[in-house]
Amino acid sequence: MNTEICNVSFPQTNYQPICLSKNENISEYLTVQNSPVLFGCRTGICGTCIVVVNGDIPPPTEEEKEILEIFAPENSQVRLACQLKLTSDIEITLLKGDLSGKL
Ligand code: FES
Repeated sequence: MNTEICNVSFPQTNYQPICLSKNENISEYLTVQNSPVLFGCRTGICGTCIVVVNGDIPPPTEEEKEILEIFAPENSQVRLACQLKLTSDIEITLLKGDLSGKL
């Protein structure tokens, strides 16, 4: 059994870091109570959960890349939080700027 723990933190917010087991899908654990991240579809389609990620995580799938290119083509650090698999400690910050024109 893999008991490695990864730390998910939210710099520049008052949210406390969350410790999860390696290879967890973080969208199963993040809620409006414990994180600043908002989710919609949770299947990688709507773009609601777009965030900036600092940390060493697997690259996006082709499907995720397509969505990211629509919502934030200029930012290589953006990811869909609902598609993230934890492989190390990460920092999550919300994407700056207003995406409402694109949603
Ligand atoms: S919640 Fe819809 S893309 Fe992540």
